[in-house]
Amino acid sequence: MLNIVIFGAPGSGKGTQSVLIAQKYGLVHLSTGDILRDEIAKGTTIGKFANTLISKGDLVPDDLIIKLLNQKIIEHKGFCNGFIFDGFPRTVTQAQALDEMLAQNGKKLSLMLDLQVKESMLIDRLIARGKTSGRSDDNLETIQKRLTIYHHVTAPVVDFYKSTKRFNAISNNTTVEDCFLQIEKLIDSFKLI
Ligand code: AP5
Ligand code: MG
Repeated sequence: MLNIVIFGAPGSGKGTQSVLIAQKYGLVHLSTGDILRDEIAKGTTIGKFANTLISKGDLVPDDLIIKLLNQKIIEHKGFCNGFIFDGFPRTVTQAQALDEMLAQNGKKLSLMLDLQVKESMLIDRLIARGKTSGRSDDNLETIQKRLTIYHHVTAPVVDFYKSTKRFNAISNNTTVEDCFLQIEKLIDSFKLI
């Protein structure tokens, strides 16, 4: 059982690397951004509420996102090799809730991977993606807001994982392939323990 948090600023490559990790290690990829965009596409009450926040670059409230994620963990209980959590946790409250949710299901977090990318590169990658993504938050004004919230609200999550010795820094100022090589090395050495 391998449970991994992939962490990092908007555009740091969480989604891209999660797909590769899930494929190689047989994990269920849970992206809270994708879960919310799915609610928006279905036009649910949650989706309508989330859309107003996402398009401004704000976070959705902790209690809502924790409840949504918990439902997904329960849905897959007993049917997978583990999870890769992408875009969650984004606050210290969410990080504590994740440990509790995993413990309630007899699981624990193996590794936290912090994807580190230069700010100018993050902006360039998101602006480039915005040309085709159709995402309401991939425009310069909203990207800057997302980055500000990341620095103020989300970055402190790093200290939570450093204090519990599950933190691992990964540079993604490089290619997708090189970043994945670093991640594979870490996961493979973790599995040997
Ligand atoms: P979410 O969907 O999680 O967005 P995000 O964190 O802002 O991150 P992105 O998905 O934009 O980027 P990414 O890190 O996945 O990078 P990607 O691989 O796509 O959240 C969206 C919103 O939902 C939030 O703002 C919030 O409102 C809400 N939300 C979600 N979770 C929440 C939570 N837990 N609590 C509260 N609210 C929540 O890569 C980016 C681009 O770069 C791609 O085009 C990719 O092809 C390219 N790329 C990737 N790696 C490389 C590389 N090495 N070289 C060149 N290009 C690369
Ligand atoms: Mg993503």
